[in-house]
Amino acid sequence: MKRKRLAVIGFGGRGQIYGGYAKEFPDQFEFIAAVDNDILKLEKAKLDYGVKHLFSDYNDFLKAGLDLDIVAISTQDASHREHAVACLQHGYDLLLEKPIATSVEDCLEILKYSQQFNRKVIVCHVLRYSPFYDKVKEIIDSGILGEIMTINASENIGYYHYSHSYVRGPWRSSAKSSPIILAKCCHDLDIIRYLINKPCLSVNSLGDLTYFKKENAPEGSSEYCSDCALKDSCAFNAQRLYTKYRWMAGYFLKGNNSDADIFKDLKYSNYDRCVYKSDNDVADHQVTIMNFEGGITASLTMSAFSKEIYRDIKIHGTKAELVGIMEDNFLEIRPYQGEVINIPIDISEAVYGGHNGGDYFMMNELHKELNGIKSSRISYLDVSVESHLMAFAAEKSRLDGGSIQFIKM
Ligand SMILES: NC(=O)c1ccc[n+]([C@@H]2O[C@H](COP(=O)([O-])OP(=O)(O)OC[C@H]3O[C@@H](n4cnc5c(N)ncnc54)[C@H](O)[C@@H]3O)[C@@H](O)[C@H]2O)c1
Repeated sequence: MKRKRLAVIGFGGRGQIYGGYAKEFPDQFEFIAAVDNDILKLEKAKLDYGVKHLFSDYNDFLKAGLDLDIVAISTQDASHREHAVACLQHGYDLLLEKPIATSVEDCLEILKYSQQFNRKVIVCHVLRYSPFYDKVKEIIDSGILGEIMTINASENIGYYHYSHSYVRGPWRSSAKSSPIILAKCCHDLDIIRYLINKPCLSVNSLGDLTYFKKENAPEGSSEYCSDCALKDSCAFNAQRLYTKYRWMAGYFLKGNNSDADIFKDLKYSNYDRCVYKSDNDVADHQVTIMNFEGGITASLTMSAFSKEIYRDIKIHGTKAELVGIMEDNFLEIRPYQGEVINIPIDISEAVYGGHNGGDYFMMNELHKELNGIKSSRISYLDVSVESHLMAFAAEKSRLDGGSIQFIKM
């Protein structure tokens, strides 16, 4: 298979995963160009990844007219439309970070341009490629569960991850990024749609931002954790969270990542804000129920309130039930006749990236796809738009007190 030429627009956390894959597997990808409006990110691309073509403005990147096989767009949610449309008009195929865009109109516009210019757009629904969901799909397709009647899934974000991303971080504001049912749960809605493999007809959703609000701030708490007298007794103490979960500190660290560096760069930044006194507005818990063609139902519970980050799923079929937890690589089939079957999940081949092998296998399959080898797991834009419409409809329903919202493609 041929080596493919990659450019990345937005060389932050996700962009570095894609660039890093090329560095790790140079027989698959050549990392040709990086575009970022942060000079430190460009320096990193040059020094750590050996990238030759560096641009602080994507217009200059487009003007350079580089010969590329794929452009990864991993800027923040609100920029996806602008960057994706410009690249499509320029004739590039895209690996587009989720969410596709932050409104129905923008998602459909990107779809329109991809069709008009006959370009591939692959959306980074990484879960599809993880050995866990791959096995779940294989089990469904084998028929052992019988017909699927209902799916019950949950997305447990983890108290520390939620406070980092959705109270203090880039996804805290619906208007500036996107509602959490899109920003976070488009993965889950995509997986549910993918597993049921039928169109979703309608959704209802309930939920709210109930806890991370000013009225719940303990008496005597400060605006910032760094100088809060209550920090030792607070589960959301930023100093403790960012020294414990150091990957999260990457969002604000300017230099090294010793405890002292973390404390210095953290102090009085957004990430130091008291979780009860930020300017966040996205829901901290939300339940969405879905009705699919053929009377199949599904529910998804999203919650900030869990000790760890994990997704679980229960699939109730006419012949057996399936129960699984992705992060534990736990999967069990419980047939109505016969013994429980434990299904081993092997992620040892996924030697790079996160999402339980999802990042590694997505890039691996992207390389194959660009070499003309088709995969049923690839999340093309048209199908991904469908699960995004489910998310927009769910948010509309939530804001409307749980009203039924019909999905129109
Ligand atoms: N697929 C997944 O599982 C997954 C996981 C996390 C994040 N994401 C998505 O990936 C995207 C990026 O998230 P991240 O965590 O890497 O964020 P990030 O903030 O670390 O990275 C974004 C990068 O884009 C750069 N940037 C911002 N505006 C720019 C512009 N106009 N031109 C060029 N560069 C610009 C920033 O400097 C930064 O380096 C988001 O849309 C997010 O929702 C997807």
